[in-house]
Amino acid sequence: MSKTYEFINVHEQDGVGFVELNRPKVLNAINRVMVSEILNAFEVFDQNDEVRVIMLTGKGRAFAAGADIDEMAGDGAIDFELLNQFADWDRIAVVKKPIIGAIQGFALGGGLELALCCDLLFAADDAEIGFPEVNLGVMPGAGGTQRLTKLIGKTKAMEWLFTGERMKAEEACQLGIINRVVSREVLMEETERMARKLAEKPPLSLRLIKESVLKAMDYPLYEGMQYERKNFYLLFASEDQKEGMNAFIEKRKPNFKGK
Ligand code: HXC
Repeated sequence: MSKTYEFINVHEQDGVGFVELNRPKVLNAINRVMVSEILNAFEVFDQNDEVRVIMLTGKGRAFAAGADIDEMAGDGAIDFELLNQFADWDRIAVVKKPIIGAIQGFALGGGLELALCCDLLFAADDAEIGFPEVNLGVMPGAGGTQRLTKLIGKTKAMEWLFTGERMKAEEACQLGIINRVVSREVLMEETERMARKLAEKPPLSLRLIKESVLKAMDYPLYEGMQYERKNFYLLFASEDQKEGMNAFIEKRKPNFKGK
């Protein structure tokens, strides 16, 4: 990809699209331009047939220490309403391809909200996550109260959001926020290994699995199952379904094309 951005780095390799937050001096504090850039990079990868999985990382010692406090400190409610910046966040949450995040150091506030838009999260054993907004006299605004609660339930979510304390990676893993905790040295390697593994799977299956699982967060069971069923039927219109089942019958490795 030739496009360059101010606050992120992007490249693609072997079916994986890489997005790296790049404001290490301020622990990758997320300003508004960065959000637009992340969205743009995700959407470009979403449309690129060569890319099957997206991997999101942060440069330096943190994943992201939150939204840029300097940028928003002077804002008023009407500025937020007119900027409508959360529209970009909404679109990040509906990217079709799987997104895998790798968290080292801090993922706080808006940084954690961004991480929670990922479908899988790997973290280094030194990672610390949390919603410290309460200590600034505000609260999460890009999905934190909603996604955390859906993930870990009201009781635990309330405690973490009220106190603003940081949670260690191991506890976050036990609570189901993070998929895997590994040492800092191998975090990128392990996350990339998972990304490459998924890049070999049939892309349409991944796409409709993602869509269906996200619906499960919103829908009652019966409606969710109807939705799942239609997606299951839809995959029988794909060449990859024929390829996958024929390869099984012919005892060979399938070659999925994403069609
Ligand atoms: C702007 C930030 C920042 C942030 C860190 N920095 N976080 N700048 N916005 N969110 C800057 C610091 O000012 C400092 O710049 C540099 O990064 C290094 O940070 P230090 O504080 O010196 O590092 P350390 O002592 O290791 O402490 C790390 C930290 C602390 C515990 C993560 O930086 C911190 O508490 N940051 C704020 C975390 C936070 O409250 N996040 C929520 C933001 S509100 P200088 O120039 O001094 O070197 C939010 C709302 C989201 O996210 C709403 C929806 C989008």
